[in-house]
Amino acid sequence: MIITIDGPAGSGKSTAARKVAARLGIPYLDTGAMYRAVTLAALEDGVDLRDEEALTRVAAAGDYELDLGPTHIRVTLRGRDVTEEIRSMCVNDHTRHIAASPGVRRVLVEKQREIGRRLGSIVTEGRDQGSVAFPGADIKFYMDAEVNKRAERRLHELWAEGEEVTLEQVLANVRERDRTDAKRSAGPLTEPADAIRIDTTALSIGEVVKLVLTHLRRAGLIGPGADKPGRGPHSEPPSP
Ligand code: C5P
Repeated sequence: MIITIDGPAGSGKSTAARKVAARLGIPYLDTGAMYRAVTLAALEDGVDLRDEEALTRVAAAGDYELDLGPTHIRVTLRGRDVTEEIRSMCVNDHTRHIAASPGVRRVLVEKQREIGRRLGSIVTEGRDQGSVAFPGADIKFYMDAEVNKRAERRLHELWAEGEEVTLEQVLANVRERDRTDAKRSAGPLTEPADAIRIDTTALSIGEVVKLVLTHLRRAGLIGPGADKPGRGPHSEPPSP
């Protein structure tokens, strides 16, 4: 079963994806972490971020690894745990160049599909999961929230990570990311026509998760009282 959740920064999709995956006991794929890992690798290599070929090479080299579980995702780069480092403001600010590269997107979308095939059931979240990576997903969600609310959520995340930033800085960053996510020609943030839209502005994370599970039940993807995944068209036994 493939469940996609797309939406802009701070919409709550990552937390929702993680919690839904944990409830279902299946892995969740944070595709933003893949773009962030490629960004960190390119920065460490001193690659010119406008050099399309060099960026594609960094993405294809696959020096980063994702350890996916229902409650965690760990990212390693050349054997070093960079799970936290990829969330820094520095990586944040540079990821949009990498995310705009058609070559990098091609490589990462192929990796995402390979992960989906290998694991059989995943909750995958990003900007293009329902529109580009998994157009035939069993169910698609699109989450959004008012921009001020999204910036506020990001601010608290960054403070929790020890970053010294102000709401104004984060709001400017979120607005800039919205703009570049929407206008890039390769894999822009789009709301798939067949996605279920959830406005999370006034919802708690618990309410969002409950809503997602209700939709999964209605679609017959999970049993009435159960959280375990049913056998959707994409279901296949996980590889040993
Ligand atoms: O979701 P997160 O904020 O971690 O994503 C980091 C960056 O990666 C975003 O700014 C977005 O532009 C990019 N991204 C993307 N496509 C995805 C996931 C993330 O372009 N599927």
